[in-house]
Order: sequence, then C-alpha cells, then structure tokens
Amino acid sequence: MLEKMDEFFAARVVGYDEHMKRDIKGAKEFYGYTASLLPKKEGAHILDLGCGTGLELEEYFKLNPEAKITGIDLSESMLAELKKKFADKDVSVICGSYFDEPLGTEKYDSAVSVESLHHFERSLKLDLYKKLHAALKHDGVFVLTDYFAESEALEVEYFENLKNLKIEQGISDGEFYHYDTPLTVEHEMEVLREAGFSDVKIMKNWEATFTVLAGK
Ligand SMILES: C[S@@+](CC[C@H](N)C(=O)[O-])C[C@H]1O[C@@H](n2cnc3c(N)ncnc32)[C@H](O)[C@@H]1O
Repeated sequence: MLEKMDEFFAARVVGYDEHMKRDIKGAKEFYGYTASLLPKKEGAHILDLGCGTGLELEEYFKLNPEAKITGIDLSESMLAELKKKFADKDVSVICGSYFDEPLGTEKYDSAVSVESLHHFERSLKLDLYKKLHAALKHDGVFVLTDYFAESEALEVEYFENLKNLKIEQGISDGEFYHYDTPLTVEHEMEVLREAGFSDVKIMKNWEATFTVLAGK
C-alpha cells in the first residue's frame, strides 16, 4: 500500500539516521562530499530542500559552524529531530512542501537537497527549480545529491508503476505518496538547465546516487 509522504517518514524517524548511514550505498561519503561543495563563508545562508533530520547539515556545520540554515520539510517529526540536534545552531525550519512555499528572491547564498527529489515528476521540478534559481544570490549554487534511474526505460517504468498503484488504491493526484520515481540524471540536468541554471555538471557518483552541481 502506498503511504502518504509525511506519514511514511513520521513512521520511520526512529533509527532513520542509522538506517541511512548503514544501508544506503555511498551515504558514508556523500553527505560529507555534498557539504564540501557548499560555501564556507561565515554566516552563509543555505536553503535545504527536504532537510529531514539534517544528515547533510551535520557535515556542513563541521565545515562552517556559523552557517545560517533554512530547512523545508513536509514531516513535522523529521523536523523535530533536526531541531533537537541543532539547538545551538542558526537553523530555522518550514514545515511544508517546497513546491508550495515561497522561496523569495536572491535570498540564499546556496541551496542543497539530498535524497528527497526522486519522488517527483519533471513538470513539478521545473517550477520548483525556476523558483529556486530566483531565490539564489548571483554566485549561488545548488548541490543536488540523489539517486537516479539507471535508464530511460526504468524511469518510465517507475512512473507507470506509481500511476497503476494510484488507480488500484483510488488515490487522486495532488497529494504526495511515498513511491520512488527518479528521473535519469541526464533528464534531471535537462530540467535544471531549462529552469535557468548554468554549468550543470555531475561531480561524483556512488552507483545510482549522483551529486550534481548547478550554478545560478
Ligand atoms: C529520504 S529523506 C532525506 C532527508 C535528508 N535530506 C537526508 O538525506 O537524510 C526525504 C525527506 O524529504 C521530505 N520531503 C519529501 N517530499 C517533500 C516535499 N514536497 N516538500 C518538503 N519535503 C519533502 C520528506 O519528508 C523527508 O524528510
């Protein structure tokens, strides 16, 4: 059965960090690597899309303890964990969907997203990435670490599977359910370019998980 996105993560918050670090290929490295691509400037303001409990932020604070973070996440429970972890840090959170929340204009020094955006289709991402592009300062970057479909055929199959599951379970569009529908990394990069990002490039990968860097 498909579970609503926020309920899926609320049910898994206990032990989430350990699970990610132990079971996800590359996670022992990619959180630190992702963090290393964000600005080191003291007080840099970073937007984290789908911050969860803040695994990438743990690594980033090691490199930039004085950073200022705004994290957006659908799940109240994941955000509660994050707030506990970073009580002494400059972290503000928004409980909501990054597709709905206004992100402002030239507000953030850079942005990051790890293991969150593989649940969504291209058209939603295009609108989000346009909004994100506008929200970054002129020299800002977006660091995206996520896992991607290994072929176009698999990408199509994931979306077909989700469509069929929704029909079977009588779920209408408009609410988010947890089901992985990654694009290929090439398609993800196309969407970023279409949204206005420049110099979009793959920095590193761990099997199907890639870090993509996109400049404003
Ligand atoms: C697998 S977790 C990743 C969390 C963290 N970035 C990490 O790598 O540990 C995915 C997170 O994305 C959040 N999420 C999914 N869809 C979202 C949306 N539309 N808006 C905001 N957050 C979302 C979930 O609630 C969850 O906390």
